[in-house]
Amino acid sequence: KHVLSEDSNEKAAKKRVLPTFPIIPSSRFGTTTAPTLRHPLFIGDFSLDGDRKFHHDRRSLGFISIDWDQSQTKKVEYDLNIAMDKVKRKDYQRCVRENLDNLLMWILLNRYKFAVSPPPPPPPTAPMPSQHSSSQAPQQGGQPHSSSHGDATKSARPNPVRGASVDSLQNPLAASGPITSLSTDFVTYRGLLRDLMCSPYQKEGWIILATKFRRTIYLCGIDSVEKQLEKENETENQKRLCSWGFKFEQFMTDGADPNEGHDENKEYCCVLRSRLASHSLVYGAEVDGADPTRYNPPHGHLTPFVELKTNKEITTKRARQILHKFKFQKWWSQSFLVGIPRVVCGFRDDFGVVRSVQTFAVSAMPNQCQGYWSTDVMINFLDQFLSWVKSQVVEDDPNLVYQLTRQPGSPNVHCQCLGENSSAVAFLPHWYINEVFA
Ligand code: A3P
Ligand code: MG
Ligand code: MG
Repeated sequence: KHVLSEDSNEKAAKKRVLPTFPIIPSSRFGTTTAPTLRHPLFIGDFSLDGDRKFHHDRRSLGFISIDWDQSQTKKVEYDLNIAMDKVKRKDYQRCVRENLDNLLMWILLNRYKFAVSPPPPPPPTAPMPSQHSSSQAPQQGGQPHSSSHGDATKSARPNPVRGASVDSLQNPLAASGPITSLSTDFVTYRGLLRDLMCSPYQKEGWIILATKFRRTIYLCGIDSVEKQLEKENETENQKRLCSWGFKFEQFMTDGADPNEGHDENKEYCCVLRSRLASHSLVYGAEVDGADPTRYNPPHGHLTPFVELKTNKEITTKRARQILHKFKFQKWWSQSFLVGIPRVVCGFRDDFGVVRSVQTFAVSAMPNQCQGYWSTDVMINFLDQFLSWVKSQVVEDDPNLVYQLTRQPGSPNVHCQCLGENSSAVAFLPHWYINEVFA
């Protein structure tokens, strides 16, 4: 009897131990055609200034005028070292500490977009005026929303957080009060989804914190101790390489003066809604700029936007293979996830002088990279991983954190519910929990 009870205890304990999710071999995700990612829908945007302060506007949006003839490589001479002494470097540690705050602030200011208007009464003789103007209609991406309603009697309170712009709370729709649910399965940043998609082909470790609140799972990437140390110990050379990427953005942005020091902390972010199979997603994404000849808001998709990249000049077949095998995989997933159709790459020499600029069509990348990586593997992995996350992150509690960890090179992801230890890393701010939801 004793043995039996031990056995059942063990079984119960095993049940409590959250299972692992295998990442590799990548081939296990390539056996079926991947589901399609619904064309990501633009639902709003915000800017961060040089002090990483949130603004509910487009002040940090840059415009990028380029020659779109994709068969051409344009010769240029952009010295990315200009005014390096005046550069305001990106504070990565600060960025990591921001967690999802800026995206959550945007949701707070736009919560009316997640509430659903009641079914319209049957039209009497003439059509009733709609509750939402066309540019403000809730953008659902096909997801059936709950029939819950914002509490219109509760007046807007001034925003308590970091001096954020409260303009939108003047908007009667924005001020329509708390909602009961976002009606989306996941809220996160695009960068995290990109890193997940690349995981079956990468050895890189990562840590994701997950919290379920009002039926939505929030995913927040954090740095491991090793990663933090790596960043703290970055050499001047590594820092310069990073700054070259941003300096190229300055060269490419209309009206920006490369003789001025560049502020790497400024960001323009779009917020998107999409769906992958059974997963509805809302995510923020920093984007580099828009082509002014195509940019004509309000826009539903990011077709007018451009992703900028730098790479070493390609002089050998091997260098081209590396570009296709590693860089294109990241460029493709990053752009695909937001529906940006073009990547403009500045090819630089060893001294940081861009010698040529070339435009790449994102849709053509997978074919060019056959044999190196497959979109089926990457999308199936993301789909199955998100399903696994749903099976693990079950407790609906804004203060409870689950930690999903991939150790560097590990074939598996582990999930651990942090229980009482959650408070040290809980990342849904009180102002978000209290202001957004009824
Ligand atoms: P490159 O793209 O030329 O590498 P993004 O391309 O995503 O818009 O990022 C702009 C630049 O920021 C990059 O230029 C790179 O220099 C730097 N960067 C992006 N992610 C980084 C990271 N995780 N660590 C360090 N630098 C990064
Ligand atoms: Mg960018
Ligand atoms: Mg870029």
